[in-house]
Amino acid sequence: MKRGKFIAGNWKMNKGAAESLAFLVKLISLLEKVKEIESRVPDPVNVALFPQAINLLSMGEYLRNSKINIKLGIQNIHWQLSGAFTGENSIKSAVEAGSSFALVGHSERRHLFQEGNDIISKKFTSCLENGLKPVLCVGETEHQKNQGSTEKVIEDQVRSVFSTETMALLDIGRVYIAYEPVWAIGTGVTPTPEQAQDMHAFIRSLIPESRRDTTRILYGGSLSAENALEFFRQPDIDGGLVGGASLKPAVFREIVLAAVQARS
Ligand code: PGA
Repeated sequence: MKRGKFIAGNWKMNKGAAESLAFLVKLISLLEKVKEIESRVPDPVNVALFPQAINLLSMGEYLRNSKINIKLGIQNIHWQLSGAFTGENSIKSAVEAGSSFALVGHSERRHLFQEGNDIISKKFTSCLENGLKPVLCVGETEHQKNQGSTEKVIEDQVRSVFSTETMALLDIGRVYIAYEPVWAIGTGVTPTPEQAQDMHAFIRSLIPESRRDTTRILYGGSLSAENALEFFRQPDIDGGLVGGASLKPAVFREIVLAAVQARS
């Protein structure tokens, strides 16, 4: 089956309010050209940005009147809908501000903020229950790779979110997975597109059968305008989660264009 490509920009803790809006103005004008190409191909490439939570509202308002369909996502949410959780973001507020997606289990959350599979699984379920599409990030560290435990680590990370409870919710929301080897994030080093494809096929085999063919699996980790096309040509790579290369509109646009090219 053919899954539409999905390109997401993870801005992490970068870009203030004015800079975020200036980026949108520029990106929209650049993507208008991509749209001309796109109108000739059947299934659209979807684009999403994950800014700092504080800038979601103004970006959401700006995008409401945009000719180009750019979705928004939040980088981190709490699994409870409200309460005494100083500093956390609620799913309801994220939705109100215009978010459709949430990153769950990004390696920086796993490793800098000690989030384990138990917390990640609660966040994943709460997204499905409350109207955000979770983008589950999985990936092995360099140490785990060198120990030969990559597949075990990924398997635990993927299986921890697919419980009977979440399976019952899967009809409500669509799930995305991003394979991001930790050693490839922000380093300029990547697996080969073929190695990434093997991991994506493995991850797909772990997804419950009813959702296996429809779940988009993105690649992330040092994606660039130069290497994106080769990754996106792989049959199980359905787009990308882009960090550093999503910060410049012209570079990000090249990556979106690579996704359009990979499909045609
Ligand atoms: P990078 O980050 O593209 O800068 O490697 C990817 C990510 O952390 O999602």
